[in-house]
Amino acid sequence: MRAQVAHRLGSPHVLRFEEVDAPTLGPGQVVIDVRAAGVNFPDGLIVAGTYQTRTEPPLTPGSEVAGVVVAVGADVAGVGPGARVLAFTGMGGYAERVLVAADMVFPIPDEMSFVDAAGFPVAYGTSFHALVDRADLRKDETVLVLGASGGVGLAAVEIAAALGARVIAAASSEEKRRLCLEHGADAVIDYSGAELQEQLRRLAPGVWTWSTTRSAVSTHRPRCVPSPGAVAT
Ligand SMILES: NC(=O)c1ccc[n+]([C@@H]2O[C@H](COP(=O)([O-])OP(=O)(O)OC[C@H]3O[C@@H](n4cnc5c(N)ncnc54)[C@H](OP(=O)(O)O)[C@@H]3O)[C@@H](O)[C@H]2O)c1
Repeated sequence: MRAQVAHRLGSPHVLRFEEVDAPTLGPGQVVIDVRAAGVNFPDGLIVAGTYQTRTEPPLTPGSEVAGVVVAVGADVAGVGPGARVLAFTGMGGYAERVLVAADMVFPIPDEMSFVDAAGFPVAYGTSFHALVDRADLRKDETVLVLGASGGVGLAAVEIAAALGARVIAAASSEEKRRLCLEHGADAVIDYSGAELQEQLRRLAPGVWTWSTTRSAVSTHRPRCVPSPGAVAT
C-alpha cells in the first residue's frame, strides 16, 4: 500500500509517497481503509520533531482518519467490516490503510461525510475534554476561547455554544472574528493589541479561559483571566 513517509524530521516537504507493508491485524485492533485524513497543527509538529513526544523517522504521520473498516481482531465487538467509521490514530493516518486500537474507532452516521468525520476527533475531542471533562462548563457560564478561529478553537466555540454558555472568541483579524461569530460566538475580541485585559474586564467579570494556542498561553493567558475565573487545560 502507499503511505506518506518522512525519513528525516523537518517541514511537511520531507514527506514522500512510498510503497510500504500493509498493516498486520492483532488482538483489539481494527484495519481501516482510509478515505480522508485530518491535518492538524500537531501533525506538523510531529514531522518537525517538536511535538511533546518525539517519534524518530522513518515515520508516517496522521492523527485522525475516516474510512471503512476492512478487518477487526477476533476479540473486537461493536464494529465490523464494511462499517463507516472515524478514528483517532495518533500516527499513521496518511496511508491507504491504518491499524487502530478498537477503542479509538467510532461509527459515523450516514449523513456525515468522510471529510467532515476525518476532521472531528482531534479538534472536537480536545475541546470537549477541556470544556466538559475539565472545566465542567455550564449553561450561562462565560468562556473565553483564545485562538478561537483555528481548528480546536472553532470546535470550542461550537461546543460551548451548544452547552448554552456565553462564548467570547479571541482572534487576530476581522475575517477570523467573523468566522467565530458564524460558528456561534456571542462576542469577539481582537487579542493582538495591548488592551486585551481592559477589553475582557468590560466583557466578562468571571470567565473560563480555554487557550488553544501555545503563543496565546504564554503571552496572554496568565494575565487575562479576570477574577473570579479559571483556566481550562
Ligand atoms: N493537547 C491536545 O490534545 C491538542 C490537540 C490538538 C491541538 N492541540 C494544540 O492546540 C493548538 C491549536 O491547534 P489547531 O489544530 O487548532 O491549530 P490551527 O487550526 O492552526 O489554529 C491555530 C490558531 O492559533 C492562532 N495562533 C497564534 N499564534 C500562532 C502561530 N504562531 N502560528 C499559527 N497559529 C497561531 C491562530 O489564530 P490567531 O491568528 O487569531 O491568533 C490560529 O487560528 C496547537 O498548539 C496544537 O498543538 C493540542
